[in-house]
Amino acid sequence: MSGNADIYHEMIVEYSRHPSNYGKIENPDISYHDSNPLCGDSIDIFMKVQDNKVTDIKFQGRGCAICMSCTSVLTELVKGKAIDDVKKIQKDEILGELGLQNLQAVRIKCALLSLKVLKYGLYTYLAGKLKDANADALKAEASALY
Ligand code: FES
Repeated sequence: MSGNADIYHEMIVEYSRHPSNYGKIENPDISYHDSNPLCGDSIDIFMKVQDNKVTDIKFQGRGCAICMSCTSVLTELVKGKAIDDVKKIQKDEILGELGLQNLQAVRIKCALLSLKVLKYGLYTYLAGKLKDANADALKAEASALY
């Protein structure tokens, strides 16, 4: 392995042994679960949101070394970020952090499971907010009719 490949390999091994932000958040604002149908591995992501920022994020679940290391990197990227910036996180950002840009197609699902969970969770949360906002607007409109 070349020098960089060695470093990336070590990072993946280290993250899989000691994942970042592993655990559960009680009463999270966002919580989402999904699994990789190819192997059955699964990830739950929990987030706290305040003033449109992700103030805390944790994950639980099991997965291969690539899955666990990419999930760790993702949680590190997300923590403290504005929701608008979290929405913009792309797969290349995570793969690049671990030198996985040329990953085989079959392993891509391992690497991106957590990004999928994060985005589904985030968009479900935002859709809920939209509904609430519309409901409030309708209530305000309705009250003006009396
Ligand atoms: Fe299950 Fe990679 S083999 S997530």
